[in-house]
Amino acid sequence: MKYRLAVLTDIPALVAIEQAQPRCAQWGQTGWQTELAEKSARVWCAQAENRVIGFVALRFAADIGEILNVGVAPAFARRGIGTELVNHALIWVREHGGKQLTLEVGACNNSAVALYQKVGFKQVGVRKKFYMGNEDALIMGCTW
Ligand SMILES: CC(C)(COP(=O)(O)OP(=O)(O)OC[C@H]1O[C@@H](n2cnc3c(N)ncnc32)[C@H](O)[C@@H]1OP(=O)(O)O)[C@@H](O)C(=O)NCCC(=O)NCCS
Repeated sequence: MKYRLAVLTDIPALVAIEQAQPRCAQWGQTGWQTELAEKSARVWCAQAENRVIGFVALRFAADIGEILNVGVAPAFARRGIGTELVNHALIWVREHGGKQLTLEVGACNNSAVALYQKVGFKQVGVRKKFYMGNEDALIMGCTW
C-alpha cells in the first residue's frame, strides 16, 4: 500500500469511492477540482498497485486542521486503510505547527466514530439534528 498526495488525474477514482460510500461528502468532479486547487487543502490517497482505494481531505489554517472528507472503497474495508489515512492527516498537521485537528461526523456513523476514537479523537460538541433535520452531527477533536 502506498500513501501519497492526490493529483488531478486521481479525480475519477476519488469520485468513484465517494459514490460507493454514501456517508462520504459527495463532491463530484467539480468539488474535487476545487479542493485540489485550494492552497489550504491537502488530499492524500491510498493506492494499491495502480488503483486508488481511499482518501482523506484536510484543510489547514490558523493552527487548526479540519478533516472534511474520508472514504475507503468498500472492497478494501477494515484493513486499516482509513486509520492510516487519518493518521497521515494528524501527523502532517502536527509537523506543520498545528495544535488541533477537528472534524464533523454523523452520530449514527458508528464505523467512522469508532475509527476516530481509536486514533485519539474525542467528542467536543454536538449539532443537534444537523443532517437532514434528523441525525445529530458530532464535532470531534484531537489536541496535543
Ligand atoms: C469510516 C471508513 C473510512 C473506515 O475505513 P476502514 O479502512 O474500513 O477503517 P479501518 O480498517 O482503519 O478501521 C479502523 C477502526 O474503525 C472501526 N470500524 C471500521 N469499520 C467498521 C465497521 N464496519 N463497523 C464497526 N467499526 C468499524 C473499528 O474500530 C476499526 O478498528 P478495528 O478493525 O481494529 O476494529 C470507511 O468505513 C468509509 O469509507 N465509510 C464511509 C465514509 C465515511 O463514513 N466517512 C467518514 C465521514 S465523517
